[in-house]
Amino acid sequence: MKNEKFYITTAIDYINAKPHIGHAYEKVAVDVLARFWAEKFGRDKVRFLTGTDEHGAKIAKAAEASGKPIEDFARETAASFSFAWDQLNVGYDRFIRTTDADHIKKSQELITKIKDNGYLYEGEYSGYYCVACETFYTQTDAPNHICPVHKTELEFLKEKNWFLKIQDFLPAITKKIKSDELKIWPVERKNEILSLLEQGFHDIAISRPSVKWGIPLPWDESQTIYVWVEALMNYVTGAKSGKQDFWPADIHIIGKDIIKFHCIIWPAILLAADLELPKQVVVHGYLTVGGEKMSKSVGNVVDPNDWVAKYGSDAVRYLLLREVPFGDDGDVSEEKLKARYEGELANGLGNLVSRVTTLIEKHLDGKLPGGKPKALEGDEGIGERLENFAFHDALAKIWQWVAWSNKAVDENKLWDLVKTDKEKFTEICGQVASAIVSIAIQLKPFLPETSEKILQIIQAEKITKSEPLFPKIQ
Ligand code: MSP
Repeated sequence: MKNEKFYITTAIDYINAKPHIGHAYEKVAVDVLARFWAEKFGRDKVRFLTGTDEHGAKIAKAAEASGKPIEDFARETAASFSFAWDQLNVGYDRFIRTTDADHIKKSQELITKIKDNGYLYEGEYSGYYCVACETFYTQTDAPNHICPVHKTELEFLKEKNWFLKIQDFLPAITKKIKSDELKIWPVERKNEILSLLEQGFHDIAISRPSVKWGIPLPWDESQTIYVWVEALMNYVTGAKSGKQDFWPADIHIIGKDIIKFHCIIWPAILLAADLELPKQVVVHGYLTVGGEKMSKSVGNVVDPNDWVAKYGSDAVRYLLLREVPFGDDGDVSEEKLKARYEGELANGLGNLVSRVTTLIEKHLDGKLPGGKPKALEGDEGIGERLENFAFHDALAKIWQWVAWSNKAVDENKLWDLVKTDKEKFTEICGQVASAIVSIAIQLKPFLPETSEKILQIIQAEKITKSEPLFPKIQ
């Protein structure tokens, strides 16, 4: 990619409940890409946006149930998201809240532009609505008025709304998706959207008269902007960084449940407002926990902070990206985390670094004859894997080097070799130390803390035995 700039976003999370491991999964994936590009192109060329989606009936309902004033509820819950991402070392450039003043202003500006361009009309709508999804459903999508996602009864609504003439844009959107001008990854999702477009798509209401907790329509204060419409606009608000504007987005990363919004409705909004489309929408799958959908009633909702507190942020990042091929659905659990922690992290990488630094300290007085070890040439396809969102495969590849290095220590019986052939011992120590440098460098975007620790130890003036990188879990 020969970009001047690189703008990447996550979906913004609803704040009706606390962050869970599914939300974390997406933020960590985007963080890895952002760190990778920052390393490659320079930190100032990259912008990474995440945040919270705070308006609408669903949030208003949750705030009411909490008994707190809605602004307090929103602030506290939003803070629990930014806190969780900080714990996970997710290095966003901005944490946008849709209640932020600049976002309210930007949304009103964009919706006014769309109206001035002649793409809005007033109409009456009656239909069945799911508050949890914040969306209307047709009879075909929701037989018997039961939400296909939440299995709850839909609410019948009859309202006056403003509508977007989405029909005007469908041919252009179809064309751009087909030609990959708007790229949808993976291709199964692209085909899914193309077949939705083929079936035809209703005009959508862009305002709600009954929802008070929202951004007012500038020309009709009795209505607020439909929460999905202004939520999508966060990507444009958040593109601004001082004088610089990073729009259009290079990549929106989202879950498979919200592709219709990102691949049909969002492009229509942008075209109606004379804005460029994002270059790519990348869709990940859904995580279950212990084989089941996360739910309060099952009691399997994982708070990422709990896992981070016990295993450390790098271990959680490792599990999320190693366990499930990006794009697929997958399952995580504490058992899986523990197994990977003890196996690949502690016994694999941790043990390697500890053994090699011990040998170098003890028998070479902490110094390799060639000076500080340097990385081996080439990245062996790690960059290419990341460009294809194959995080799990990139990590598997790096762990092949870990295995190769551990094997070199074992098979050469370095602790005996030092007594019989010091020269060969020294040479192999040098090779393995270089492999460790390469491993640490390639791991940088994935496991930033561990990578830094390893580089500090292995490239010190005098190498000393490392503390365990992944200590035993109590
Ligand atoms: N607020 C909307 C997004 C607006 S974007 C302009 C929303 N919020 S959400 O909190 O329900 O989901 C936020 C993101 O987390 C979405 O991309 C969603 O797919 C993802 N996930 C939510 N639960 C998930 C799992 N169990 N597993 C993986 N991702 C999950 O939708």
